[in-house]
Amino acid sequence: MRIDVVSIFPEYLAPLELSLIGKARQDGLLELNVHDLRTFTTDKHRTVDDTPYGGGAGMVMKPEPWAQALESVAKPSEGAKPVLIVPSPAGERFNQALAYELAEEEQLVFACGRYEGIDERVIEWAQEHFTVRPMSLGDYVLNGGEVAVLAMVEAIGRLLPGVVGNPESLVEESHSDGLLEYPVYTKPSAWRDYDVPAVLLSGNHGKIAQWRRHEQFRRTSERRPDLLAEFDAGSLSRADRNALADLGYDVVDGRLQARHGDAAS
Ligand code: ADE
Repeated sequence: MRIDVVSIFPEYLAPLELSLIGKARQDGLLELNVHDLRTFTTDKHRTVDDTPYGGGAGMVMKPEPWAQALESVAKPSEGAKPVLIVPSPAGERFNQALAYELAEEEQLVFACGRYEGIDERVIEWAQEHFTVRPMSLGDYVLNGGEVAVLAMVEAIGRLLPGVVGNPESLVEESHSDGLLEYPVYTKPSAWRDYDVPAVLLSGNHGKIAQWRRHEQFRRTSERRPDLLAEFDAGSLSRADRNALADLGYDVVDGRLQARHGDAAS
């Protein structure tokens, strides 16, 4: 995969030289280029922003440098358009399913906006050359797209073949199956006043798997009941249904429904 990031703060992306993503780049599993938007300006002051039409606070990023930058980095392959991700709190919410989807692409280009955002005409024009996906990390406002790009590139990059040493660790993790991950423990088995749950020391793999599954349901119902509401309950085993019934959830028409006043939600 090839990733290009355009930003007025290229140094912000330095962490992508570290750890698993840095190693993936060194190993040639991921080609990642960071570009300074100002190198695509033509005026003496390397201007990237101007006041908003219609008035209002803040500045808006000018279209010309963005078009130059995006034209220069786009590398369409066999007619396929690269994907242009525009981080924005007004975008579609990024999640694990999107990380898997985007990990299949040949090229991703990230356009990091700052100030009040990028002139909207850039987003319209870019659709000629890219599949454009405005994307939000969550319902809060960051100062610019760079932090969102760090998060998205890590989430996508770790799914590329060979990046995570043991691909099994991608299977049993939060959000891979629509649930949060179960809690994990290591040695010592007794630490201060806290013991590791006895079942994990039992050597009974069936019981351990059942306990972990139950913990996934318990955690998800306590912390993210919204995920349980979306969960496809059609494939649940009898043991799963019992565990969920204990937590106050019934299966109704293939969906989990919280018994009123009972479930953690
Ligand atoms: N830029 C500013 N806020 C953002 C957010 N929540 N997600 C993605 N990009 C952003």
